[in-house]
Amino acid sequence: MADQVVRLPLSTDTPLDPPAEWARLRDRCPVAHAELPSGDAAVYLTRYDDVKALLSDPRFVRPTERDNAARIAPDGVGGAAATGSSALTLPDRGEPHRRWRRRVGKYFTAKRMTALRPGMTRLAEDLIDAMLAQGAPADLRASLGFPLPVYVICDLLGVPADDRDRFSHWSDTFLSVTRYTADEIRTAHEEFVAYMSGHVAAKRAEPSDDLLGTLITEGENESEGDDEGDGGGGLSDAELVATGMGLLVAGHETTANMIGKMVAMLLADRRRWERLLADPALVRSAVEESLRFDANLGFGLRRYVGEDIEIDGRTVPGGSTVVCSMPAANRDEQAFAGAADMDLARTPNPHLTFGAGPHSCLGQALARTELQVVLETLLTRVPTLRLAVPAPELRKTEGLLVGGLREVPVGW
Ligand code: HEM
Repeated sequence: MADQVVRLPLSTDTPLDPPAEWARLRDRCPVAHAELPSGDAAVYLTRYDDVKALLSDPRFVRPTERDNAARIAPDGVGGAAATGSSALTLPDRGEPHRRWRRRVGKYFTAKRMTALRPGMTRLAEDLIDAMLAQGAPADLRASLGFPLPVYVICDLLGVPADDRDRFSHWSDTFLSVTRYTADEIRTAHEEFVAYMSGHVAAKRAEPSDDLLGTLITEGENESEGDDEGDGGGGLSDAELVATGMGLLVAGHETTANMIGKMVAMLLADRRRWERLLADPALVRSAVEESLRFDANLGFGLRRYVGEDIEIDGRTVPGGSTVVCSMPAANRDEQAFAGAADMDLARTPNPHLTFGAGPHSCLGQALARTELQVVLETLLTRVPTLRLAVPAPELRKTEGLLVGGLREVPVGW
């Protein structure tokens, strides 16, 4: 490893472009020494093959407080990931994690996503109509990006439409690291747990075909002897509450930000938007390319490496924390020809934006569907959509884990 230390997060001059440093690191220092905002040391990976191999290796786990891993920031900055109470912790490794993933993952099938599409489209249309009615300029992040994913998660959990705004508020409180006091965050947690506990009890009493209802029915069938052999029965009430929390935390801000960034990237060069208007069949590949091309994904995924390993011929000592930069890997020429160009028809597109391996994004089919629906709906409803400020004036959020734009001012 070279001696120079890379200070994370890397800075950029413009809001949508990648830091220049990535190309140099991939080329000359793919296994770099890095310093996290906490001051702790980590190893920083930027090549596609290295990032993919490390994330896919089940030996290496996502660090928790139990490991003596490098911290991201001194005061635990990191949104809800850092504020979750023990009652809301999901199993995060080993067989309990695999069991939870199998159960919840079963719900996210292609068939189910197709079934969710019309409802999502109506949500997107309503939000876009409200934005249009308010008049230009509008903030697309606040009008569409932020509310849509939380409404979708409410539908998934079977939460009635009247309670969506409360979910929106709770999620905002969990995710914000600066806007709310410790007391407000604690209150939001308590309210959320109380609400979800009541909700789970109601679902136990009355079967439904949303995600929670399905998990409950499957669990009950198993205790009646219809065991699938994964040795565990259904999820407990506490696990169901934690699942609701987990999906909200993992699926809200990430998708909200991606909606904003996708639209900003597509409008930043008007030819991209025009191409989609001329050929809407490109929506799917354009969504994938937006996911690949996004340079603001946060600084990367951490893995705790418990034993000595070799990466690119260099030894990474056991006890190291490795930070995998997916956005740097997504710009690797060795994996993507013309990686620096946004090619809306690119296929295949094996980007790493949803991670890889045992912890890869469980909600990726849902996220993809949301992004496709948003794009399709915007193209048909607001073909004249444009950025209301020059792209270089867009402002990035302060978040360390999930990168985004503070607002996406648009006109039409
Ligand atoms: C564009 C939007 C999204 C992006 C970029 C994204 C990205 C990611 C990434 C990179 C991971 C891996 C974390 C790690 O390995 O440490 C992850 C995990 C996860 N995501 Fe997403 N995600 C998105 C949307 C969603 C949605 C909509 C949901 C569900 C409602 C969701 C649920 C999850 C869950 C439950 C995990 C944890 C999986 C596990 O630990 O086994 N995500 N996501």
